[in-house]
Amino acid sequence: MTTDTPRPTRLDVPAVLAALTLEEKAALLDGSDAWRTEPVQRTDGSVRVPAVMVADGPHGLRKEPEDSETMGLGDSVPATCFPPAAGLASTWDPDLVQAVGAAIADECRAQGVSVLLGPGVNMKRSPLCGRNFEYLSEDPFLAGVLAAALVRGTQGRGVGTSLKHFAANNQETQRMTISADVDDRTLREIYLPAFERVVRQEQPWTVMCAYNKVNGVYASQNHWLLTEVLREQWGFEGLVVSDWGAVDDRPAGVAAGLDLEMPSSGGNGTRKVVDAVRAGTLDEADVDRAAERVLRLVDRSQPALAEGGSADLDAHHDLARRAAVAAAVLLKNEDGILPLDPASRVAVVGELARTPRYQGSGSSQVNPTRLEDALGALRERLSGDVPFAPGYVLEPAADDDADVAAALRQEAVDVAREAGIVVVFLGLPPSYEAEGYDRAHMDLPPEQVALLDAVAAVNRDVVVVLSNGAAVTVHPWQRHARAVLEGWLLGQAGGSAVADLLTGRAAPSGRLAETIPLRATDTPTVGAFPGEHGHVRYGEGLLIGYRWYDAHALPVAYPFGHGLTYTRFTWSDVEVVVRRDTPAAPGASTHTADDDARVQVQVQVTVTNAGDRVGRETVQVYVADPEASVHRPEQELRGFAGVALEPGESRRVTVDLDARAFAFWHVPMQRWVVEAGAFEVRLGASSRDLRGRAVVQLAGDGVTEPLSPEQPTSAWLEHPVAGPVLRERLAGSTMLRMFEDPQHGPMLRAIPLRRLTRFPDVPVREEQLDDLLAEVADRPTA
Ligand code: BGC
Repeated sequence: MTTDTPRPTRLDVPAVLAALTLEEKAALLDGSDAWRTEPVQRTDGSVRVPAVMVADGPHGLRKEPEDSETMGLGDSVPATCFPPAAGLASTWDPDLVQAVGAAIADECRAQGVSVLLGPGVNMKRSPLCGRNFEYLSEDPFLAGVLAAALVRGTQGRGVGTSLKHFAANNQETQRMTISADVDDRTLREIYLPAFERVVRQEQPWTVMCAYNKVNGVYASQNHWLLTEVLREQWGFEGLVVSDWGAVDDRPAGVAAGLDLEMPSSGGNGTRKVVDAVRAGTLDEADVDRAAERVLRLVDRSQPALAEGGSADLDAHHDLARRAAVAAAVLLKNEDGILPLDPASRVAVVGELARTPRYQGSGSSQVNPTRLEDALGALRERLSGDVPFAPGYVLEPAADDDADVAAALRQEAVDVAREAGIVVVFLGLPPSYEAEGYDRAHMDLPPEQVALLDAVAAVNRDVVVVLSNGAAVTVHPWQRHARAVLEGWLLGQAGGSAVADLLTGRAAPSGRLAETIPLRATDTPTVGAFPGEHGHVRYGEGLLIGYRWYDAHALPVAYPFGHGLTYTRFTWSDVEVVVRRDTPAAPGASTHTADDDARVQVQVQVTVTNAGDRVGRETVQVYVADPEASVHRPEQELRGFAGVALEPGESRRVTVDLDARAFAFWHVPMQRWVVEAGAFEVRLGASSRDLRGRAVVQLAGDGVTEPLSPEQPTSAWLEHPVAGPVLRERLAGSTMLRMFEDPQHGPMLRAIPLRRLTRFPDVPVREEQLDDLLAEVADRPTA
């Protein structure tokens, strides 16, 4: 795959900007078509700004051919289809994800594409979100680390990325208008951290704003989001692009920090921007700033465009297979039925074995360079005849003949009866989950469950392989399966990857990046998804994914972080050491990486492969804050490390934790705070398979919320400086004595100080409060 790209030159951005007219600058803020920025080409040749092209991904390149009439959906130029995000995330392997990012970048370069539109780091708030296959995890730390790796891989090859969809785009229902109503702390701790990590660590070239509103304001014109948080607090230096069609009020967007509107509005946006400047309702400086960012994007794209390059599609297919092998999660494996015994007579059942479902539908749909199916790959690997029966129609029509379905099922039962082991391929039909709409339930199609029932009635040695982009319920049927391999959507090489895993040529190593709940009714957003009357209220707050199931002590089918393999590991010599513990500088923003380095806690454990096959273990580190002054989740993933071990081999695994691992977002103070006291560090092979614990004491940031007379009197009494001062002022009063009364004291101490000063017999009066505050502020902390 190569192209002949003319040799572009770098731009002198300040000089070009200074030479442009208002109309030219405004035009730069609008696309020229669906995928390209607007060029500037003056007839006298005095200014020349080339267009650059962006294209979808992010699990492969989706570049629309020049002559496409279908928005490219389905007919894009052939490109390697890697496992979509749901699969990639289950690798828990940043190095592998980085390699995938680099490979996709090479395909972009060969096609003259400057920016890949991904990765998507929205949280899986509900398993029902139709686009969960494109998102990484229910956990912001895992999503952030893996997305950062993808961006590092791609941008390291001179191709930009677009971190999307910023922010709180967690459902497809009414995605273009819904208001995600989320409290500040939940945004900071759950919905923003993956974006924050990637921005701070990798500086993606672009960030794509979401379609939806965040707390009533469209993301595309949300100044708080696009400017205060993204640029002022996180230091983002790139360009903000709209999601395709996300613009509501274009001049308001420019003022808020939305630089580029895509796709082309056909001049509508340009006109509105020019008119607003002329009418004095939009500052030309805002237009300049956005135009400059477009020019910088065009400029930084030039080296890769000039060099071009070719992509090694065979090597990329092999990498896609490696990623698929690493992505599949072995959920259960009773009596070691897997890997398949080569001597057993294996039969394969299920349409999905020969018609693979390997990616989700919508804007991310890649046209693969080739496609493997598991049935063909298994037949290559297993000697002898491997009988097959499709068992079901993947997308049955309502008026399909019931006799046909029954005949298909009977054929599968006949095949299963004669077999030693039956591998049954089940999963979600494409129409069950796609961009643009949400799922109504979490179940497999009933005809597939009925097929499994029938097969299991004649053969007890059943292995199930799943193909689905988001969690499905396994509870209703998994008693029929002695092993379950959760294949997610595995990309174009998924067929051979599954065959390698089933036959033991490769060892499973994937870990769940999302909980598999028992029932849809157990999930965090029941009753609050997808919202009503234009609003969806994130009432569960911080408690999504495992945070919810832990808080409610709910049993789950398979917990976050779970995944089996063909060997076993022992863990020993857990050690958790505080290497650095300094408080945040007074007044620190606590938004930079330097601030996070104020705390360094090193976690170590020795992992030994105690079985007789190679395998990869993933050490997960969760932090609990049992002494917090605010509600905190039971435990949160704060670090992880994978280690591949030969049989008998041992390695010491190290995971480093920084201040953020212990901090919470303090809403009144608008900053991250590490509180003094004990934290429990838990090491697990999943969130519910904890193998070691240690308690560390941290000095904390030593910051306290400034006192105000609106706070309860108890906050004053407990304050190290204000407490003694207030007691002194109240000395001898009945009120001070009453504070100690076991029955009435708590009620009285709960009264805000300002109100208390208006009660009789309180020696401190309301008009003295300003003086009291000043006195307290002047005294040093003890
Ligand atoms: C999707 C984006 C995508 C864009 C361009 C939008 O509908 O939400 O993720 O990058 O289209 O295809």
